[in-house]
Amino acid sequence: MLETLNNNLQQTVKSGSLQTTALPNREDISLYLISKDYPRGRLPQEEMLAILEKPAYWAFCWASGLVLADSLKRSPNLCAGKSVLDLGAGSGVVAIAAAKAGAARVIACDIDQHALDACRANAELNHVSLEILDDLAKLDQKVDLLIAADVLYDRENLPWLDTLVDYADEILIADSRIRDKSLFDRYDLIDEQQATTVPDLDELKEFGEVSIYYRG
Ligand SMILES: C[S@@+](CC[C@H](N)C(=O)[O-])C[C@H]1O[C@@H](n2cnc3c(N)ncnc32)[C@H](O)[C@@H]1O
Repeated sequence: MLETLNNNLQQTVKSGSLQTTALPNREDISLYLISKDYPRGRLPQEEMLAILEKPAYWAFCWASGLVLADSLKRSPNLCAGKSVLDLGAGSGVVAIAAAKAGAARVIACDIDQHALDACRANAELNHVSLEILDDLAKLDQKVDLLIAADVLYDRENLPWLDTLVDYADEILIADSRIRDKSLFDRYDLIDEQQATTVPDLDELKEFGEVSIYYRG
């Protein structure tokens, strides 16, 4: 499993490798993440293009995912007994946290096949069971709760703020990218926390200011 993930990673970051990493705020969850000495600074052009073309988002646990994993532990009633879909699952951090909080059914959804490989591997690593979905439009029936962490960096996903209600009765979104809070006017702001992506990407501090929005 780890070999497949390393091969996937090296299609993008040639000299990168994964290591099992316990999350700082959730030591009960470990993920296969890029090792913290991953290559930074000026990279050969070929590698830069590969990273831009197919970013290995799944090899990081993003600040928003980290904050949601913490929230689901502190408030397991948010997902206990419910069917939950983690949209833009990446490593699967939120899906795993939902399963650990007692969700009845958890679906990890991502358009990136490498992310889905990571979700499978990380589910096994954490002894939880996840269903895998490669396209939200293929969801067979509405879920109780849809959770999305750090998916609005891609402005093409902004219409989701209105359309996700077609897929779930309740929606939780964690975001640190959108400055215009009025875009969330149909949501309640329920929490704000500071966090750092793991491993640290040396992003601007503002990208660690995570807001959690709820729509029920
Ligand atoms: C920045 S990562 C966040 C991963 C994870 N939620 C976390 O917080 O660590 C964003 C993820 O959203 C996925 N994504 C982007 N657009 C998507 C779409 N239309 N449908 C499903 N997944 C999508 C990307 O492939 C990527 O894995």
